[in-house]
Amino acid sequence: MKTKLLSTFLLGCAFAAGAQPMELQVNVKEIGAPIQPTMYGIFFEDINFGADGGLYAELVKNRSFEFDHPLLGWEPFGQIQVLDKNPCFDQNPHYVQLTKTPETKTGTGLVNEGFFGMGFKKGENYRFSVYARNLSEKPVRMAVDLIGNDRELTAYSSIEITDKDWKRYELVLSPNRTDDRGRLRVLLLGDGTVDLDHISLFPEKTWKGRKNGLRNDLAQALADLNPGVFRFPGGCIVEGTTLETRYNWKHSVGPVENRPININRWNYSQGVRRFPDYYQSYGMGFYEMFLLSEDIGAEPLPVISCGLACQFENKYADPQAMVPIKELDCYIQDALDLIEFANGDTTTRWGKLRAEMGHPAPFNMKYLGVGNEQWGEIYVERLTEFLKVLREKHPEIKIIGSSGPFKDGEYFDYLWPEMKRLQVDLVDEHYYNAPSFFYDNAKRYDSYDREGPKVFAGEYAAHHHTRKNNFDAALSEAAFMTGLERNADVVYMATYAPLFAHVEGWQWKPDLIWFDSMKSVKTPNYYVQQLYGQNAGTHVLPLTYEGQPLAGERKMYATAAFDENTNEIILKIVNAGIDNRSLKVYLNGARPAGQAQGFMLQSDMLEAENTIETPCTVVPEERTATVRDNVVELDAPKQSFQVLRIQLQ
Ligand code: AHR
Repeated sequence: MKTKLLSTFLLGCAFAAGAQPMELQVNVKEIGAPIQPTMYGIFFEDINFGADGGLYAELVKNRSFEFDHPLLGWEPFGQIQVLDKNPCFDQNPHYVQLTKTPETKTGTGLVNEGFFGMGFKKGENYRFSVYARNLSEKPVRMAVDLIGNDRELTAYSSIEITDKDWKRYELVLSPNRTDDRGRLRVLLLGDGTVDLDHISLFPEKTWKGRKNGLRNDLAQALADLNPGVFRFPGGCIVEGTTLETRYNWKHSVGPVENRPININRWNYSQGVRRFPDYYQSYGMGFYEMFLLSEDIGAEPLPVISCGLACQFENKYADPQAMVPIKELDCYIQDALDLIEFANGDTTTRWGKLRAEMGHPAPFNMKYLGVGNEQWGEIYVERLTEFLKVLREKHPEIKIIGSSGPFKDGEYFDYLWPEMKRLQVDLVDEHYYNAPSFFYDNAKRYDSYDREGPKVFAGEYAAHHHTRKNNFDAALSEAAFMTGLERNADVVYMATYAPLFAHVEGWQWKPDLIWFDSMKSVKTPNYYVQQLYGQNAGTHVLPLTYEGQPLAGERKMYATAAFDENTNEIILKIVNAGIDNRSLKVYLNGARPAGQAQGFMLQSDMLEAENTIETPCTVVPEERTATVRDNVVELDAPKQSFQVLRIQLQ
């Protein structure tokens, strides 16, 4: 976070002399509900090129030649055919055959364009690999080149393809300059015929240096949120446009080369932004997502198909497409097998696969979502079948049901009582609404039933009319989240959505983190999530203004928490108005040990946003406030969100 100490004195001068401070009371003796460690989390979906072309560090698009047009993403030249006879990988059977003779004037080869270009950094290493076999009498040498934005060569090497049988070849390339729209070229140097498949290029510097790894800056940005839960793999892609194109987790594990690809539903479902080259390689599959959860200290929360195709975002197929109840067994079996894959002993079929992939220890999965934004009786009937089996075989797993795609209305009103009746553990609520909704709904959960299932605010984001990730949207989310925290006895999890967007490849906005082939930018919304995630606390403390929770009065919002791990009080305060305010926060029953310290997001411009070019327009700045006896005296500048920690004796 950017460090800029704000002098309390100077700030004090900016505030209207004589204005009465608002007095907030925090009852430190009355420790409230635990704040679940899962409270602030991450929602991940392969939308906006979030996985392939984003978090998944593979630079080659269509590396297996399995897209519906097998050469999409490739620029072939010379004598090339796409074949599938005697393939290297039975589930990804296509490969390319390259032939060069003395007559092939152009030479024979292929250029891959990557995902909106490949990002190469000068001096860093890139690992190229390919499966190849030689059909000629003699070995055939093949050049492997990295090409810069202007088509000049920036790194080159070559391999000799010797074997008649499929074999993996690998080499490392180090470009002599930085390019953000680079390309990969393979080119036969010698005469002959070779078959190539699964042509891959990864930066060596992936997250934690893993092979088949994740892009460093993007994975680090997730870790920096300090998320308590990691929901994957979506979103609508869980459901699929059709049942056949649902996310089948079993296709996303095992050797990456043989994971059958799937069309990504975001390829076509936003008609104005179509991406015919958007597929799911499943290279970053369930194993990688469990591993990422573990790396960033978040509880894994997979969501699986309940046997219904996407009902909401479906103009292209039957929104009522469903598996008949009597044929649901294999879907339920997928859920059981997933639990075995995550948690099972290494002697079990799926536990053994996990161990073979490199993780003998269980992932200790505790949560499972069944269906995404499903609704109606057809959903309830299917969920009932899942619950019958899951409750009996895995009572330890907490099940998450849906309340449909909207924050209220017919589907929501039908589903919530049904979820209570079925006794699911958590209900997933989704709301993409205007900032005004978020300001007006900071009390949404104050009146929720305390006896029913808990709430998972599984997808939410303030949609400013510009659909930009501006400060206005972020501030409204910060205000709303005070209400999530105050109601931590009923809200157990909350995840902003969607997470990632490629600046050229997006279908949906706003999104938490934007990126191109080289750089990424954290939005103001990201910093709101981060300030909450890094300052969650362990228990709610009652905070009142004139005897009521502060949830919009004078455009102010606040919540207080206690952190039993550090013995600190944490204040979160939003001033959504255009007047600067002074506050006195009485920490009744507490003995503070020093000044209040923390961070603040503030901007005079509600439209302010961070972009790739200007990533630091709105960033948290360090902040202190005076503590006299047990009273925190602080200023809440107009349009600000601040988090302060007060150490107790
Ligand atoms: O977050 C984008 C989409 O919004 C999700 O895929 C879906 O669940 C919701 O409709």
